[in-house]
Formats: sequence, structure tokens, C-alpha cells
Amino acid sequence: MTAGAPARSRLLVRDLAQLATPATGSGAPIRGRTLREVEVVEKAFVLCEGGRIAVTGPMHELARLALDGDVEELDGRGLCAIPGLVDCHTHPCFLGDRVEEFALRAGGASYEELHAAGGGILSTVRATRAGGPDDLRAAVERHRGWMLRAGTTTLEGKSGYGLDRDTELASLEAVAAAGGVPTWLGAHAVPPEFDADTYLDFALAEVLPRAAELARAADVFVEQGAFDVDQARRYLEACRGAGLALRLHGDQFTELGAVELAIELGARSIDHLEATGETGVRSLAASEVAAVLLPASALFLDRPMPPARALADAGAAIVLATDFNPGSAFCESLPLVCALACTQLHLAPEEALTACTVNAAHVLGLADRRGRIAPGYDADLVLLDAPDWRHLAYHLGGDLIAAVVQRGAVAWAR
Ligand code: NIG
Ligand code: FE
Repeated sequence: MTAGAPARSRLLVRDLAQLATPATGSGAPIRGRTLREVEVVEKAFVLCEGGRIAVTGPMHELARLALDGDVEELDGRGLCAIPGLVDCHTHPCFLGDRVEEFALRAGGASYEELHAAGGGILSTVRATRAGGPDDLRAAVERHRGWMLRAGTTTLEGKSGYGLDRDTELASLEAVAAAGGVPTWLGAHAVPPEFDADTYLDFALAEVLPRAAELARAADVFVEQGAFDVDQARRYLEACRGAGLALRLHGDQFTELGAVELAIELGARSIDHLEATGETGVRSLAASEVAAVLLPASALFLDRPMPPARALADAGAAIVLATDFNPGSAFCESLPLVCALACTQLHLAPEEALTACTVNAAHVLGLADRRGRIAPGYDADLVLLDAPDWRHLAYHLGGDLIAAVVQRGAVAWAR
């Protein structure tokens, strides 16, 4: 198998030790006990045609297909296939890094202290504004490559480190150019030239009209030192009016009412939730808003983990993502996030797989095409170098990914 080779129209992945997919007959998002209903086929094959999955099944049924003509074959012996992973929360549009702040935090400084002192998000805003659109494209493409090699075949990417018109729009264009799903995080922080309300006046008047053409969703950081609930409501209502789906960063450090706002506005998701209490858990579980959990961010900042077990048990649509960014989660690996989900959030491997495939695709409005291995779905697969698919979460930070198939072609192979 050769990564990057031109795709033949048919690809047969054969002799897999296992094929594992979230429940195929249950719509999206998946909640409750169905989160654990991963379907496993032993000694399996997957036939891809024209970038879609055509047939899957046990090897003994392969002969029945009477395949003739030009079919590229991929040897799956000793490997397990899972759906291409879907990372529905990343911040890939940045230049520079924050390794100095990382070292300061290792010495005891807090993320909020660095933020309040003009570091944090705003230091990345300075570095990102100093580059041009070509630099941003190159950065996003580099980050996309890291994610692909970790098994991510669908990525959402947020703007939010420009906070001026040109850099925000160039960020959204860079995500689209990398094949990602762009989210306008126009309300990530208040840039130094404005106060929060005047900044929102500017962003909604000058950036939203074009951002709404480039992005699928809008996002806001509801937090002390960022935007309050009333400011977030104003921003999100305007974005919804322009046709964007809604997302929120909420309850990361403080419960300010972001959960209630997400439900009131019919948001697709609320993300973080490290500070969410019992009432928030109950309200979210009874709502249509997905709960996106970011355990790599909680780990990286040494913060409490979100109440994932309580959310899942109460019936919430739980989702896992990396939160890849230079400050709070310099981590592109969904397999590592799955390991954290099982060890820190007390989710089962089956729940973790469902949360970063079909449920993540639901947050992006793509659940009819991505996140499952089933006929008609996009042919996105991760081949794990393991005898059991649960090594996805078990092999902590391991060299686990043997190959990644994207839209029916080998996009990366070890
Ligand atoms: O999701 N919480 C706000 N935004 C990002 C962090 C961004 C940064 O530190 O640069 C997050 O954790
Ligand atoms: Fe984030």
C-alpha cells in the first residue's frame, strides 16, 4: 500500500482481525445504553467503491461477491478497522507556540494568571496576526497532517486567533483548504484594541457577513475575562440569523449559565463542561445539545475532569474531541483522548469510540455520511496495529496506527 497513490475506484481491505463500528441502526446522536453497542465482526473485510463503503462482512462471505476487474487490495492481517475518527473541536489556525508559558505553568503559574497578564490566547493572537494567509494555510496543513497520522479523517477547525477581519477570514479559508469543517470562533477573546461590546459590534458588522459564507458554525468562549452570557447571546443570535449552527465553550472554569444559554438557543453543542454541576448535567441530558468533553485540555491544565460518567448515565449525547490548540491542549491525538476517556472519565471503550465517531459527526451535521463503517458511508477507516479494537484506548500514547484510509484511498500508512 502506498500513501498518496492515486485511488483506484475500488479498495478491498481484507483479512482484518476485527472490524468495529458504533451501532449502525440507531441514527444520531447515540445516547444511553446504545453508546456501548459497538458491532464487531471477526475476520472481516471492507469493500470501498468510489470513495464510499460498499460492502462489509466476514471473510467467508467475500467469495460470494465474485469481484472481478481492477481492485486494489490492502492486507489487514493482524489489524483492526474502526471508522475514521472525527475531531469536532480543534483550534488549528495559529502561528508560533506557547512553550514558554508551558514551562511557566510547569513551575506553578496558572493559565488564568497568564491570560490576565496579556499572555494566553492574546499572545497567540499577536503571533498569528504577524503572519499572512500563506503562513496560516501552511500551519493548518501541518496540523492536519499530525491529526491524520493519529487517525483523524474529519476535522473541524476554529478561527479565533485573528480577531480582526482579515486574519479571521484567512483562518476559515485555511481550514476549508485543508478539507476541514470551518467554525467561526469570532468571540474567542477580546482583542486589546476594543472592549467586549465594541468588539462584538465590529465583529458582527464587519466579519460575520463573509464568515457566514465560509463557516458552518459559530462559537463563543463564555468565561470570566472573555464573554458573559448576554454578550454570547447577542453574538450567537446574530450568527444564527446568518445561517450558522451554534457552538459554545462553556463551564471550563466557571458556571456562568452557558448550559442554559446553549439550550435556549438550540445550539449543536456545548464544549468543555469541567465546572458543570448536577443541575447542568440534568438539563443537558434532557436537551438536544451535545456535550463535548475535552479531557486532554483538563489534563494539560491540571483541572478537574468533566462529569462525563454522570452525563452519559443521565442520557446526554456525549462527544469526545482533542481541543487541539497551542495553550490548553497541544494534543492532536484522539486515541490518546480515548485512553483518557476510559482512565479519567470512566467511560467504556465502546462509549469512547461512539463519542469520537458518529456522535462527533452529528455535531458537525455529517452523521449521515461519517463515523460508521456501513454501506453508503464515506470510506474513512483507521487500521489499528492490534488484535482487538479496544487497543484504541488501551495503548496509552502508543504506536498504534498502521494506516488511514480516507474517501476510499490510503491517505497515510506507516
Ligand atoms: O478551548 N478556552 C478557550 N479556548 C481554548 C484555549 C485557547 C488557548 O489557550 O489558546 C480552549 O481550551
Ligand atoms: Fe476549544
